[in-house]
Amino acid sequence: MKFQQFWLLVMVIVVVLTTKSAHSYERPPPRETLVVSLAEDADPKTPQQVHVSLVGEDRMRITWITDSYTPPTVYYGTSAGKYDHSANGSISSYEYVTYTSGEIHEVVIGPLNPSTVYYYCFTPGSTPAYSFKTPPSQFPIKFSVTGDLGQTGWTKTTLEHISQSDYDVLLLPGDLSYADLLQPLWDSFGRLVEPLASQRPWMVTQGNHEVEKIPVVHKTPFTAYNARWHMPYEESGSTSNLYYSFEVSGVHVIMLGSYTDCDSGSDQYRWLESDLKKVDRSKTPWLVVLIHAPWYNSNTAHQGEKESVDMMESMEGLLYKAHVDVVFAGHVHAYERFNRVYNEKADNCGPMHITIGDGGNREGLASKYQEPQPIISAFREASFGHGELEMVNATYAKWSWHRNDDDESVQSDSVWLRSLASDPTCNK
Ligand SMILES: *[C@@H]1O[C@H](CO)[C@@H](O)[C@H](O)[C@H]1NC(C)=O
Ligand SMILES: *[C@@H]1O[C@H](CO)[C@@H](O)[C@H](O)[C@H]1NC(C)=O
Ligand SMILES: [Fe+2]
Repeated sequence: MKFQQFWLLVMVIVVVLTTKSAHSYERPPPRETLVVSLAEDADPKTPQQVHVSLVGEDRMRITWITDSYTPPTVYYGTSAGKYDHSANGSISSYEYVTYTSGEIHEVVIGPLNPSTVYYYCFTPGSTPAYSFKTPPSQFPIKFSVTGDLGQTGWTKTTLEHISQSDYDVLLLPGDLSYADLLQPLWDSFGRLVEPLASQRPWMVTQGNHEVEKIPVVHKTPFTAYNARWHMPYEESGSTSNLYYSFEVSGVHVIMLGSYTDCDSGSDQYRWLESDLKKVDRSKTPWLVVLIHAPWYNSNTAHQGEKESVDMMESMEGLLYKAHVDVVFAGHVHAYERFNRVYNEKADNCGPMHITIGDGGNREGLASKYQEPQPIISAFREASFGHGELEMVNATYAKWSWHRNDDDESVQSDSVWLRSLASDPTCNK
């Protein structure tokens, strides 16, 4: 009982702090959290929160949670109802103050063929069976990009749009569930995204809402995030789930952690340096980076935050030298596209920076901008939506932004990009 009172006090303090920072800029009225529950009479062995992510060149990690023990086994094959293969994995769980998670199952399956639909299940012959499509081995490939997703009616609309977009891989630059310490909301988020995340690989990095530290009571950061969203960091030579890279169909994607050390003496910095050295642009002509806190931002929200400033100072030079094509960020709940930039100035050999933090969380939109619009900012708007990046071939890619208020087919902003690897003026 005493413990619960303490917990309540902690929550009150957190809510007060959060509310204060949310009011430092104007936002439309927030929408309530949409809680997705299991049926009251559901069997505790029911698989839930299924999601898949890429591992190496031709494998996939399947993650799912049950309330009581079931074996960590996936049955899979290329025709529905016929599971020729099976693989075993592991189970883990975590504790968070008074909460204990369900059984978190992880199984890596493969090798898998490209551009192929695989059917899978966790008990042979069981329904429902799940399916996913593997990404292509060659161009074209289409990424869907959405940040600061949360779990509200707005999120639901974003997910509906994304599901109509016929994408291959989803990229999420941080802030997933907005559980904000209330661990059952991580479960709810897992159920909300399952219809999409069980069908296509979801590759994510973390934001400030994933930290979830409480002084004295829970000092370890990223507990829920690391336990539930295991990304392929081991395969990319990283020692932390907070930063990693992967390659898919001619694209090298680097996921960085905005809320972990990034100075030149840090593990993250050294890992980034060595990962960039491994990039072979004849094999992966495209190089894309995701962070959470944007380095370029003309919204009044989240200006000059330490995480952005320190990371930009430490890492922008590395990314520039490596000819990174695009940097995606979230954090600011709006859309903004910058021209190619470096060191605060337009630069044809620098990356294009895009803020795509408009996924639809409960805090609402960040609708105030600095005036006048900086010359390097090409397009900015505070509306919910998502982005699509289609690498058409080794040289050209198309970026488009899709507002939730419009039909999915409407491109509210779009631009063609040329890969910096193929630009002779940047490779002298
Ligand atoms: C998975 O584990 C079960 C039980 O230990 C075992 O019978 C089965 O052969 C294993 N399957 C694979 C593919 O290793
Ligand atoms: C790449 O795609 C662009 C845009 O569709 C096209 O104009 C160009 O010819 C293509 N290049 C190659 C080498 O196929
Ligand atoms: Fe954020």
